[in-house]
Amino acid sequence: MNTLPIAPLFARIVDDLATHGWSQQSIFIPTDLTTQLAKECHKRAQRGHLELAGIGRGVAKVVHTGIRGDQIQWLEAGQHQAVDRYLALIEQLRSAINQTLFLGLEDFEGHFALYPPGAFYKKHLDRFRDDDRRVVTCVAYLNEQWLPEQGGELRMYLDDQQTHDVVPQAGTLLVFMSEKWPHEVLPATRDRLSITGWLRRRA
Ligand code: OGA
Ligand code: MN
Repeated sequence: MNTLPIAPLFARIVDDLATHGWSQQSIFIPTDLTTQLAKECHKRAQRGHLELAGIGRGVAKVVHTGIRGDQIQWLEAGQHQAVDRYLALIEQLRSAINQTLFLGLEDFEGHFALYPPGAFYKKHLDRFRDDDRRVVTCVAYLNEQWLPEQGGELRMYLDDQQTHDVVPQAGTLLVFMSEKWPHEVLPATRDRLSITGWLRRRA
């Protein structure tokens, strides 16, 4: 196991996860990296490589734009150097969480997501009924100069009827315990890009 000292940014996320079950960092991804990732996501969209996201998994998976309207493509290591840089950051996070919280996180699965104007994802939990491997959700935003009036917030439903809205501004990383917090994506007036993924434990 990697036992290098944990960098402060990662230590902060781990600490937040332990005390609140979620963490929001506004400068997790360097600007040059969000720019490259956004460019890559747009390129894949233009080439028709993104597909409408489904709900459920395996044979039960269906596309239902009345529930979620994003277009996605799963990330794979070795596809693109910017993607690999992002995966390396997430690997550092996985290691920091495991060293401290002993969640036994084994791997990461994630995808580019593009929500065209008006698309949304209704309130949901990031856990499938038949698969509890997803433990920690990580969402990285890629949208430069996002204005509040453009909408597109991720709304988290916290305890005591409180909500917390996350603006999908480039550089922001939101991390939360997948089974704990219901959340939704509100419609926006412009394309909304993110990388959404999950740190998973063994089946
Ligand atoms: C999801 C999701 C949030 C976002 O894909 O499960 O909730 O802000 N995405 O893109
Ligand atoms: Mn979700």
